[in-house]
Amino acid sequence: MTAEINIKSTSGTTQVLIGGGVLAKTGTVIAARLGCRKVAIISDETVAALYLDVVEKSLRDAGFDTGAVIIPAGEASKSFATLEDVCGKLLAFGLERGDAVVALGGGVVGDLAGLAANLTRRGVNLVMAPTTVLAQVDSSIGGKTAINTALGKNLVGTFYPAKLVISDTDTLNTLPGREVRAGYAEIVKHAILAGAGHFAFLEKRVDGFIKGDPEIRTETIKKSVQVKAAIVEADEREDGPRMTLNLGHTFGHALEGIAGFDGTLLHGEAVAFGLVLAFQYAAFRGLEGSGDLARVMALLEKAGLATTLMKAGLTPTAEAMLGFMTQDKKNVRGAIRLVVPRAIGDVTIEEVAPEDLDQFLQSVNT
Ligand SMILES: NC(=O)c1ccc[n+]([C@@H]2O[C@H](COP(=O)([O-])OP(=O)(O)OC[C@H]3O[C@@H](n4cnc5c(N)ncnc54)[C@H](O)[C@@H]3O)[C@@H](O)[C@H]2O)c1
Ligand SMILES: [Zn+2]
Repeated sequence: MTAEINIKSTSGTTQVLIGGGVLAKTGTVIAARLGCRKVAIISDETVAALYLDVVEKSLRDAGFDTGAVIIPAGEASKSFATLEDVCGKLLAFGLERGDAVVALGGGVVGDLAGLAANLTRRGVNLVMAPTTVLAQVDSSIGGKTAINTALGKNLVGTFYPAKLVISDTDTLNTLPGREVRAGYAEIVKHAILAGAGHFAFLEKRVDGFIKGDPEIRTETIKKSVQVKAAIVEADEREDGPRMTLNLGHTFGHALEGIAGFDGTLLHGEAVAFGLVLAFQYAAFRGLEGSGDLARVMALLEKAGLATTLMKAGLTPTAEAMLGFMTQDKKNVRGAIRLVVPRAIGDVTIEEVAPEDLDQFLQSVNT
């Protein structure tokens, strides 16, 4: 089964194809959508070893002149140095504005390759071929590109939506289980935003998704992409409703910051804790009376994600958490902008004083 979703933005339409085996059709799909001659594949060492051949063959069979730029795997590649190197190689390959870049890999490759594609010759065509759960449901959708700086993650970047997203769910078969589970936290986040029907859909299929049932993976990823697509269509530049996608992330980013981005806590694992903390915060304020906190914890746990900080050996102080939360990019005038879930399908964006959060963080029995 191949699912297709089209997402509108001010720069055009992003065509998203989701299904097992779609990577082998990269050449024909690009040929049908983009009239270009050269295609440069940007990938990391791990993903290139697994999937570069199939993409290159597909492109060559469709008549494209292909080249590849391989970067080291890992967050450290989202740097000015790697960006410069990649742009230089795209130019040396002779890429012209009408040509295309294929970002083959997870969110790191997508964020970096997206920015390189946007900057090279003021914008060549961008095709995303995401190979992680996180990249298929989240980073390949919505057009955000980024690199990191010494002052923080994702602080330099642009909005540059892809023309095409080719999400091959079969590639998830080689993804380490821990990465699959971490990516699932973003799927849970999308379901909380979408509502009870979507959440119940996941509750029935979580085991199949984690075990690798191909139909369930394709269907689940399709539904998750539809949620993000609808939100970014309504608010491309993140001036309003798109901020709800930050659910669980203000707490999550603080936990990641404390853990130190060294692989001890993956982004999605931090988001799982963050979703629980967001519901606990709503309960602390007396806003959450639905019992949905227990449902969210149960679903995350079924996916194999930890939900209790203490059990996971993490005991951040309120002071350390607040230290990171007060630095968040999305804050306004000293208040912390928080997405507060009252129930599944009912979230609001609130500006919370650091003192109020301090009280919650002191009180929470993690
Ligand atoms: N642009 C956005 O809107 C957005 C949204 C969310 C996250 N992000 C960014 O995404 C990044 C995280 O992305 P990620 O979780 O995909 O991490 P990642 O790109 O680092 O991939 C995780 C690991 O899995 C490996 N891998 C990827 N696909 C594989 C496969 N199919 N089989 C085996 N190994 C594979 C990679 O080499 C890497 O070691 C962060 O930098 C984050 O800031 C961006
Ligand atoms: Zn996230």
